Amino acid sequence: MVYSRSLLSGAILASTASAGVISARQAASINDAFVAAGKLYYGNIADSNTLGIAENEAILTADFGQVTPENSMKWDATEPTQGQFSFSGSDAVAEYAASNNKLLRGHTLLWHSQLPSWVSSISDPTALTEAIQGHIAGVAGQYKGQVYAWDVCNEIFDEDGSLRDSVFSQVLGEDFVRIAFEAAREADPDAKLYINDYNLDDASYAKTQGMVSKVTEWLAAGIPIDGIGSQSHLGAGGSAGTQGALEALAGTGVSEVAITELDIAGASADDYVAVTNACLNVEACVGITVWGVSDANSWRPGENPLLFDGSYQPKDAYNAILETLGA
Ligand code: G3I
Repeated sequence: MVYSRSLLSGAILASTASAGVISARQAASINDAFVAAGKLYYGNIADSNTLGIAENEAILTADFGQVTPENSMKWDATEPTQGQFSFSGSDAVAEYAASNNKLLRGHTLLWHSQLPSWVSSISDPTALTEAIQGHIAGVAGQYKGQVYAWDVCNEIFDEDGSLRDSVFSQVLGEDFVRIAFEAAREADPDAKLYINDYNLDDASYAKTQGMVSKVTEWLAAGIPIDGIGSQSHLGAGGSAGTQGALEALAGTGVSEVAITELDIAGASADDYVAVTNACLNVEACVGITVWGVSDANSWRPGENPLLFDGSYQPKDAYNAILETLGA
């Protein structure tokens, strides 16, 4: 069945195009259908800017079961000056999640980008260790017990599978990974702790293989990594390797994997269905997070990579996912 969706006075109405009959029941929810198929969530992103757009919030609330703050939990937003924390933006997302019964993914505790200059200028290993520990204690501690999973380390690999050059790797070698994961476990013991990266879209790609071999090694060394996130910012036709890549990532021995930032240039229904099926077919895959609701607010302007167009209308890919899930 194909749904068309209209937003009317804040209510979401579904209509059957063939009969032209509008029924006042809520349209099928991608999240509900994915949960019925055995997964934990089909999620999306939020921050105060997009939560403030009525159409965006209505779709998020109706269709998705998990939210990730797009920017507000990053280091530059939460600790712009050492020891001075600011949670206004991230609290808004956490409150939205709690009051709307959504799972919350925390993004992200350690990343070379959106990093305040006071961190990138540290050259002493002890000082940087303390900065990482203080940041993670402050941010993960703020949301202790509220976050389903944290992206503890984000984008720490280069395309060739080696560790990315950053203040963290320069000053601490790869020990920053242990420092960060141990600090996160201490701050929020029940959260799933993830390592997250992009271009993990094919099992044979060097970066995927680098991730697999380092995570295997780090798990053997007792670093508390629970999951690997594959961002999945894909080009058109880029979904072919997703299932194989998820299987390779799960093969490291992490307890779970997830698609964490899905968007696909052109948003073809085939690509979105292939990624959805890839997660369904890999037991360790717990869920999918799409990186934006409407093309109007995507970080990839002009590429139309999301499930809803610039006018918040559902695209073919949205209907195709629901059909695939039998909703
Ligand atoms: O908040 C400021 C605003 O005050 C200022 O006037 C404006 C002028 O440029 O910038 C605003 O900040 C922007 C911020 O988004 C909030 O809108 C930054 O410039 C902009 O760089 C930032 O982009 C974000 C990007 O991460 C930063 O690297 C995107 O929204 C966000 O979607 C993107 O998300 C990342 C994931 O965290 C990690 N994986 C890749 C993904 C896509 O790049």
